[in-house]
Amino acid sequence: MAKLWGGRFSKDTNALVDAFNASIEYDKRLYHEDIRGSIAHAHMLAKTGIISQQDGDAIVKGLEKILADIKAGKFKFDVGLEDIHMNVEARLTEAIGKPGERLHTARSRNDQVALDMHMYMKKTVTEVMELLIAFEEALLTLAKKHQKTLMPGYTHLQRAQPITFAHHLLAYFNMLTRDFKRLEGVWEGADIMPLGAGAIAGTTLPIDRFQVAKELNFSQVYGNSMDAVSDRDYVLDFLSAGSLLMMHMSRLSEELCLWSSTEFGFIELDDGFATGSSMMPQKKNPDISELVRGKTGRVYGHLMALMTTLKGLPLAYNKDLQEDKEGFFDAVDTVKFSLTVYRDMLLTMRVNKEKMAAAVHKDFSNATDLADYLVKKGFPFREAHSVVGKCVAYAIEQGKFLPEISLAEYKKFSPLFEADLLEALKPENCVAARTSYGGPAYSQTAKQLVLDKKIVSDQKKVLKKKLKKL
Ligand code: ARG
Repeated sequence: MAKLWGGRFSKDTNALVDAFNASIEYDKRLYHEDIRGSIAHAHMLAKTGIISQQDGDAIVKGLEKILADIKAGKFKFDVGLEDIHMNVEARLTEAIGKPGERLHTARSRNDQVALDMHMYMKKTVTEVMELLIAFEEALLTLAKKHQKTLMPGYTHLQRAQPITFAHHLLAYFNMLTRDFKRLEGVWEGADIMPLGAGAIAGTTLPIDRFQVAKELNFSQVYGNSMDAVSDRDYVLDFLSAGSLLMMHMSRLSEELCLWSSTEFGFIELDDGFATGSSMMPQKKNPDISELVRGKTGRVYGHLMALMTTLKGLPLAYNKDLQEDKEGFFDAVDTVKFSLTVYRDMLLTMRVNKEKMAAAVHKDFSNATDLADYLVKKGFPFREAHSVVGKCVAYAIEQGKFLPEISLAEYKKFSPLFEADLLEALKPENCVAARTSYGGPAYSQTAKQLVLDKKIVSDQKKVLKKKLKKL
């Protein structure tokens, strides 16, 4: 098909150039935004008298038909028409004739693609928010179930202090609440309307950008036409927020891999969420966790790629900006798919409470509690640390754990030790006593769970508001 910009050219584009230049293969996913944006533009052109009401109506009707055709899979995309914008426009003119040729008045593909991307971003943010909330709720459900499930907390991947599985899970919940806030920030950056910037310098025609913004539910309009067509900060914001979200899931993935190993045995993934080996019949592999961990690098890569694409670009639009799409779309799909499959994997996994508890009963993770015991009796912490360190060394020498040393032996290390030390050493008591704000004590976890539920219900309100502004 002849190019819509073909006027000054005397021969056809080389087929390789068409193939290299085209973005239709991936930007066709913007069809809905593109058509909605064009309808708003046509409404505005008619209202301001730039085109006649009759032409405006014909354009809108034609665009609605194209939208229905695309949805029904009846639209043939043409690589020669480069991108979604020209595919739609060419079809429109083919279908309705002259009025179609007026649609692109006071508009460039530069501000058109920016509009599409802003609209698509707003929709995407709400979709990711919804999935994130569902994931958070899964963590809360699990945490609620495991408020009393003891496990070791690790530092340096060495057993450190007893905690509960709930406390561990709620750490991830807290990370995800920050991810949600970051997504709110992404939304803010996308909620600015770029159309009317034209190719770079606005237009001489009496357009009304605020009318378009109103019809499309944007809170603001770009105040500088050059910024409007060259801004991709909101895409970077998404890739950055998505990278952090993936990183959080990746850290949990690493733990799920460790915990499902025979060495830990803390969890067992449901058969529906694990995979086998083509050679080793006994294997049950945590592929989902590994893939989420692996795909995290891919999302980071998209962030780095776009940062690099943008860093040397002169104002305003450059074709390099077309490179904002594939990585972004891939990141969207990756984040959404990961969140979806992960949630179900978590909700179906089996938690081996006995194994977890055994890991805190047969170890030294209660040593700090013994030091705190001495501190409560007036001993300076540094000295208490040293005394308990000696107790630990002694126990190791005897092949015992702290609760198995007799009071008489303890007395040799400090006269402050009394019979009640045994109670202080019980992991369940160690946890119960960690009542400092944000600590793993059962009482604290119960309070945090109430607060966390409230956070989720507030997030749902935020999401609801945003859904109304799509
Ligand atoms: N497909 C292009 C993109 O995604 C649309 C804008 C093209 N503008 C231009 N002047 N070539 O960036």
